[in-house]
Amino acid sequence: MGGTAAIVGSGLVGRAWAIAFARAGWSVRLWDAEPQAPARARAIIADLFADLADNDLLNGQSPDEALARISASATLAEALDGVDWVQENAPEDVEVKRRLWAEMDPLAAPSTVLASSTSGIVPSRFTEALAGRARCLTAHPINPPYLVPAVELVPAPWTAPQTVARAGEVMQQIDQVPIPMQREIDGFVVNRLQGALLEEAFRLVEDGICGVEEVDAALRDGLALRWSFIGPFETIDLNAPGGVRDYVERYNGLYASLFASMQRRADWTGVVLDEIEAARRGQVPKDKLDDRQRWRDRRLMALRRHKKDAARSLGD
Ligand SMILES: NC(=O)c1ccc[n+]([C@@H]2O[C@H](COP(=O)([O-])OP(=O)(O)OC[C@H]3O[C@@H](n4cnc5c(N)ncnc54)[C@H](O)[C@@H]3O)[C@@H](O)[C@H]2O)c1
Repeated sequence: MGGTAAIVGSGLVGRAWAIAFARAGWSVRLWDAEPQAPARARAIIADLFADLADNDLLNGQSPDEALARISASATLAEALDGVDWVQENAPEDVEVKRRLWAEMDPLAAPSTVLASSTSGIVPSRFTEALAGRARCLTAHPINPPYLVPAVELVPAPWTAPQTVARAGEVMQQIDQVPIPMQREIDGFVVNRLQGALLEEAFRLVEDGICGVEEVDAALRDGLALRWSFIGPFETIDLNAPGGVRDYVERYNGLYASLFASMQRRADWTGVVLDEIEAARRGQVPKDKLDDRQRWRDRRLMALRRHKKDAARSLGD
């Protein structure tokens, strides 16, 4: 079971991918431009494996078993030699990516899929000049991928359909949920959706309609409860007796009357940011953000575990 993946760039996102691949039985080779980075990543991964095992999220394996599949490679050529998948996680800088991909392309076999984790650079910007560009795409995770399964698969205009199909199979094999796109667009799918929601959140606070905590509660204790196991389309399909068409017939008028007041851009950097920051720092002081991030990850683990259990007992 499983193949071999090279993780190029072993910072925050690279090491999270290493966990996802190794947990699913893949061999993982870490490489980084900074020679000490892979060893540092492996030490952090060892701690995270212990947490995952405690939460029954290591597929029944011991942390040592999973960790034994992760090694550090001395050179990029050694890391890429004969692998099935390359996941690039270098800094978000198009020039860095261009140079790195020009180096990676000739080192990887023609059948190897080359994927970038880039959050915001469309893949055509760093793959156009490559001889092997048909097997290149973006596979954008929501961090950390070992807890949040969705991965956006973004093809450049020259990415072969078989590459996207193969990428989808590999993502499923390692327990991720592929979101294949037909073509590239800035923001991909997830950040476009998140951006639309954040824009309205900023505007509501900017206009004094409600406060920061009220926006968070509307999601946390409202919409997001359903959204954590059905999406917005399934939500509306189930919120009218006759399904989605019935929902649109009933509520299209309501939504249509809202959109005129949603066209003005909120100024995210304006005084509203002072208000949001003051509210947040009142809840969590700056020097406690690390603790709160660890708490968030523990809550995410509990949620992932619950979703797996509920899918098993109730179906999905
Ligand atoms: N942080 C997130 O939440 C998140 C989520 C999804 C995707 N991403 C994307 O993942 C990528 C990496 O982000 P990160 O948060 O892991 O950054 P990071 O700074 O934690 O890690 C980047 C790593 O790349 C290494 N590096 C620098 N130049 C390199 C090169 N030329 N070749 C190989 N390695 C090199 C650095 O030494 C470092 O270890 C970015 O493209 C980012 O947009 C980030």
